[in-house]
Amino acid sequence: MLDKTRLIAPDKAGLAEAAALIRAGKLVAFPTETVYGLGADARNDRAVAAIFDAKGRPRFNPLIAHVPDIGAARSLAHFTPTAEALAAAFWPGPLTLVLAQRPGAGLSPLVTADLPTVALRVPAHPLARALLQAVDGPVAAPSANPSGRVSPTRPEHVLEGLTGRIAAVIDGGSCAVGVESTIVGFDGAGRAILLRPGGVSAEAIEAVLGMPLGQGGNAAAPTAPGQLESHYAPAAAVRLQADEPRPGEFRLGFGPGPSDLNLSPSADLVEAAANLFHYLREADRRAGPGATIAVAPIPETGLGRAINDRLRRAAAPRP
Ligand code: TXA
Ligand code: MG
Repeated sequence: MLDKTRLIAPDKAGLAEAAALIRAGKLVAFPTETVYGLGADARNDRAVAAIFDAKGRPRFNPLIAHVPDIGAARSLAHFTPTAEALAAAFWPGPLTLVLAQRPGAGLSPLVTADLPTVALRVPAHPLARALLQAVDGPVAAPSANPSGRVSPTRPEHVLEGLTGRIAAVIDGGSCAVGVESTIVGFDGAGRAILLRPGGVSAEAIEAVLGMPLGQGGNAAAPTAPGQLESHYAPAAAVRLQADEPRPGEFRLGFGPGPSDLNLSPSADLVEAAANLFHYLREADRRAGPGATIAVAPIPETGLGRAINDRLRRAAAPRP
């Protein structure tokens, strides 16, 4: 175990140092436009295994391999015309595509959980892109938080959960999108399936496809996170669709009206997504032990689907 986690400056020397650490098999948390990722060399079994150890993940669910551009993605997986169209529309950005892995792609089987498919993402954050270029190889990265807890959108969130367990964090400030990437897979007939709602809205994807997305996400056969019942859990209890707070509850608002903390006073879903994980942490701190966070209703459209998905996990019965 490491005794100290370094905070690395977001400059040229810092990026070179972070890339060298990853190439040497170490774990480095880095900012993406969605949340901070916990990065390791995706070709190095020991480094990927160390991700599961640092997060305390109960099982080896598959990880997303991050690459700097579509060329690197094509070298790891087979792209169908539909996948090409989605990549052209949304990469770099908060979309992950689950595609058939190429033989000899060289990824650790721990990244794919030995599935024949691989989840690929080209992030848009300039520091993530610079890091991926400097590593010059795929970087496996789940969100940089202990398993089951709220995802990190600031470097201090990463340090809160993982200090002493990882080599370094690149200091990239707050994440602009604030919820994880949308995950799209394909069924046997090549039809696009929504596996996890996220930073790209289903509506935007359907506009590119010219047809509705199939619905994945079956709780009996978890393939994307969040299909785990309890996830993103703060310490406090969480009550959803709370039109009115009950006495003693901490009010997490959305839109106008009284609240202790408001995801977006103007009811802007983009702003609410960006604030979500930080405010869940802040609500936890301010509500105190044994408290309940009462969350205002949030519309089930656009980024609201991703926000509600994360909130349902946060409210789910804890194991
Ligand atoms: O925004 C994001 O996606 C962030 C940032 C760091 O990029 N990453 C992230 O990773 O959310 P993670 O590990 O929390 O979620 C990745 C999920 C896995 O839990 C898994 O269920 C799904 O992607 N996944 C990965 N490979 C898959 C595959 N071959 N088939 C189906 N689902 C897969
Ligand atoms: Mg996660």
